[in-house]
Amino acid sequence: MSKINPFKPNSPVSSGMFAGRTKEIRTLEKGLYQTKNGYPSNILITGERGIGKSSLMNLLKHLAVGEIPTEFGNFNFLAVNVVISERTSLVTLIRLIERSISRELGKVEAVRSFLSDTWSFVQRIKVMDSGIDKGDIIDDADVVIDDFAYSLAQTCNRISNPEKGEASKDGILFIIDEADNACPNLHIGYFFKAVTEMLHQHSCERVMFVVAGLPDVVEKLAKSHESSIRIFTHLNVKELSFSDTKYVLDRGLSAGNKLNSEQTTMGDFAKDHVASLSEGYPHFIQQFAHSAYEHNTDGEISADDVLEGAFKEGGALDSIGSRYYAADYHSKIKSDEYRQVLAIMAENMSDWIKKSEIREKFTGDDQTLTDALKALTTRKIILKNPSKMGEYRLQQRGFALWIKLFGSRPKK
Ligand SMILES: Nc1ncnc2c1ncn2[C@@H]1O[C@H](COP(=O)(O)OP(=O)(O)OP(=O)(O)O)[C@@H](O)[C@H]1O
Ligand SMILES: [Mg+2]
Repeated sequence: MSKINPFKPNSPVSSGMFAGRTKEIRTLEKGLYQTKNGYPSNILITGERGIGKSSLMNLLKHLAVGEIPTEFGNFNFLAVNVVISERTSLVTLIRLIERSISRELGKVEAVRSFLSDTWSFVQRIKVMDSGIDKGDIIDDADVVIDDFAYSLAQTCNRISNPEKGEASKDGILFIIDEADNACPNLHIGYFFKAVTEMLHQHSCERVMFVVAGLPDVVEKLAKSHESSIRIFTHLNVKELSFSDTKYVLDRGLSAGNKLNSEQTTMGDFAKDHVASLSEGYPHFIQQFAHSAYEHNTDGEISADDVLEGAFKEGGALDSIGSRYYAADYHSKIKSDEYRQVLAIMAENMSDWIKKSEIREKFTGDDQTLTDALKALTTRKIILKNPSKMGEYRLQQRGFALWIKLFGSRPKK
């Protein structure tokens, strides 16, 4: 009989299966509380691919709209979700925000006409978007940001002090994901810095920005506006603990047992295997658990199910690789010798390693090693230590872990 697999390696985790992040959740809740009381707080969430940024943002949304109670009670924010892509321009961003606000609030007639007046500038900026007068684009961007901040302030002040018959809100929360995709034209750092300052000038203190992205988002923000980083409290999301990993497995199994009439169990030894293979990487945990669940046929997931599900052709490691790392590993790196350099470096995970230490284990010649380190650095697969000559490290721990496990897969 085919069973529904409760583990989801390809999508953010549901709040019922969400594990850990106590400190981060506390900071986010505190930020909501501050903002609700007129002391706005903005938070920047960074972390590697698949570490759980979007999952944390999803949970934040449930907290902010009052679907999940917090230690400060149930919040009642208007939550606006935006995902940034390489194509997102300033105008697109503002349009997405306007549409999202109108969709959420425009159910009451009086509010609908208020919104249509307040956000009427969005109709006018279509001209700018069509490419006329491209030379004035920076000036125009300033005008657009000014209009945006003013309209946002009006909207936020109206919903936190509603007129008769309208629902009251704690404020507006912006959940902006994948900000590392921002193109230079979006002026993302400048946007946040200018908007938050303008909101303050318009006496609007109940808007909160939570922005998530890969670690290089910090550099992007700073490049666009040097001090934009200072408006954010920074949370760097890391691996889950051993007990969090077990919690994810237990919650998944119990969700599966509710969905399926055929029951599935998993012994401690098998759980230990998932925990030690995944080293707390959330997407590894979900994928190893998913593959083990799939591989199992007798209702008791064993350590062998975990290992075979992980290492077999088309198993967990192949899935993780094709989702996150294979492009870097296979297409960006054409030579087996370069891959050997990566494998040696991966033994140190993403810690710094000296060139001389790599040389001891490397089977190729010196020149090849020098070329490899140079090429891998240029392709941003590894980093060169700016403060110590001859030291390198892998960019991402997840990538290091994958190379370690992938390299040790028994060859057929
Ligand atoms: N706190 C958590 N508890 C359980 N599973 C989690 C948790 N956080 C993330 N996951 C799982 O890890 C995987 C990756 O999560 P998510 O998509 O949130 O990561 P991300 O950092 O947004 O990734 P990307 O950089 O690709 O956008 C998903 O399968 C998700 O279900
Ligand atoms: Mg994400």
